[in-house]
Amino acid sequence: MQRLMDTALATAMASLKKLDQHDQDVFALRFKRSFADLYGPLQVLYGHLPEFESMLLSLSTHLADAWAKRSPALRLHDLKRDLEPDWFQRPDMLGYVFYLDRFNDNLKGVLKKLDYLEEIGASYVHFMPCLMPRPGDSDGGYSVMDYRQIDPRYGTMADLERVTTALRHKGISTCVDLVLNHTAKEHEWARKARAGDPKYQAYYWMFDDRTQPDMYEKTLLEIFPEHAPGNFTWYDDAKKWVWTTFNEHQWDLNWSNPDVFVEIVDIMLFLANTGVEIVRLDAVAFMWKRPGTQCQNEPEVHQILHALRAASRIAAPALIHKEEAIVAPKQLIPYLGVGEHSGREGNLAYHNSLMVQFWSALATRSTKLMTHVLRSHFPTRFENATWGTYLRCHDDIGWAVTDEDAGAVGISGAAHRHYLADFYEGGFPGTFARGSVFQANPLTGDRRTNGSLASLCGLETAIANKDMSAMSLAVQRILLGHALIASFGGVPLLYMGDELGMLNDPSYKHDPHLSHDSRWLHRPRMDWERAGHRHDQTTLEGQIFTGITRIMARRRATAHLHGNNPTEIVDCGVDGVFAFRRSSPTGALVALFNFTENWLPVPRHWVAETGARNFWDELSGARVDTPGDVVALPPYARVWIT
Ligand code: GLC
Repeated sequence: MQRLMDTALATAMASLKKLDQHDQDVFALRFKRSFADLYGPLQVLYGHLPEFESMLLSLSTHLADAWAKRSPALRLHDLKRDLEPDWFQRPDMLGYVFYLDRFNDNLKGVLKKLDYLEEIGASYVHFMPCLMPRPGDSDGGYSVMDYRQIDPRYGTMADLERVTTALRHKGISTCVDLVLNHTAKEHEWARKARAGDPKYQAYYWMFDDRTQPDMYEKTLLEIFPEHAPGNFTWYDDAKKWVWTTFNEHQWDLNWSNPDVFVEIVDIMLFLANTGVEIVRLDAVAFMWKRPGTQCQNEPEVHQILHALRAASRIAAPALIHKEEAIVAPKQLIPYLGVGEHSGREGNLAYHNSLMVQFWSALATRSTKLMTHVLRSHFPTRFENATWGTYLRCHDDIGWAVTDEDAGAVGISGAAHRHYLADFYEGGFPGTFARGSVFQANPLTGDRRTNGSLASLCGLETAIANKDMSAMSLAVQRILLGHALIASFGGVPLLYMGDELGMLNDPSYKHDPHLSHDSRWLHRPRMDWERAGHRHDQTTLEGQIFTGITRIMARRRATAHLHGNNPTEIVDCGVDGVFAFRRSSPTGALVALFNFTENWLPVPRHWVAETGARNFWDELSGARVDTPGDVVALPPYARVWIT
């Protein structure tokens, strides 16, 4: 390895001759620091190929070229992040997630709303897919035909750079999606492949006949069984079957080809050089294919992600990686780095289980399953990584509750999943929720759920029934959820519109490109008129907005909530209450959440034994009185007791 590193570094340095000595030295230091993290995984993936060494040399040149093009301002930012490597774990982190057109038309529109972002307290904004999509239906922008151009509806790369710079000056980091598993079939690589170019055919998974597709199909799942059944598509002009896990227009990339790795590194660093600080690596679970498996979460995926991370650490250290893997706990944890990848893989990953368990507990008014799942499957902290905590996002909710976990608390997995889909569709007697079923799969019985946070929390039904007390319960559920994601550990991700309690938006049904995909139900356009009422406490939006921004302000002021402090799930013995402890060098914080519309008592001695000393609620900024030796929790109460 030493010999290879010397050769690779010498090759790379040739690209840096024009830089001053200091910038050359910094690159060399970072290259040496992270070379083993590049070499090790790549050796596993591509070491058996005759072109392995030349690939490494070419990759090193790409890294140096990217560093040479990085602006002095971003190089300084790299240094800043080197000095504060925990920046994304700090309690002042808050993500705000939106579609550019649905927020304020385009990139320039973001600049007009900087005051709004600051008011929310956002320190991270995720522009939902904004790179050049294919025309027509593009899976919400996740079918990308050019990674080096912005969707013209949103602006240009120069606009992106202007916006990331303006945001950075306000202390806000920009996140964009980088789709790793597939490109649009209109991408230049795919067009060349389709026209017969063997170099580009090797970028994808293409087969002459059904032999291999049939073999793989035996163990593959279907992602969109309703509108995109099967995992392969036949193209008559190319006379090929192409691997298309998601939609027909999304062609899976072949990551066993080292050229694909080098191309993507180049794109990733190109994006980093526009000032992007977080890449959301989309659908990473699917990147490696292995016969006889579901082709998800294969060990090679983690080697790829480890090596990608090393590439950023060398050429754009201010960039961090968020890995999107909506998979079961056991498969999810490795995306934040375990074993040989510990501290060296993703910096952020969605806590899908926390999200599912929030909804499950809200429906059942029981926290047994939630406590069991979150306590038995997850480590209390990660090295150099933390969760993205969220309640809703642009995707559906999959009821990922295993039969084993359900069995452990004495319920049936199948019946519970069925119940949750019914409850959140709005069909179950007595439900408060209003949503819709997504991708019902008659073969597996699986049904997923769509709907906005507020509608799923009961606000839509309450408004329709003009039921004031139901409205107030819905608002309390929304605030309960935000107090949960603000304190659990990780970066809370606010989904645009949720801060105002925006309801389901069925207008997508009239758009021919969107009508087949009911996830658009919860992707509304920002209602700026409603936002205008956000300071008016007599309105629902005022109560929700003030409630959420207050929770986030308390989060910023509470050092216990740093992502590096362990999150230990504890059982207070009261069903309906979810509890965890955040241990910190200055003492513990005990967080309690009442998931029911009843008053629930938690014994004082239990709270004290769990670590609370002063009985001070950091969330409300008030003493916690304990008459009768209990902490009495009102309906949907949340407290952070130190
Ligand atoms: C991710 C996105 C989802 C998209 C899929 C395919 O899961 O969140 O919206 O459909 O990837 O790109």
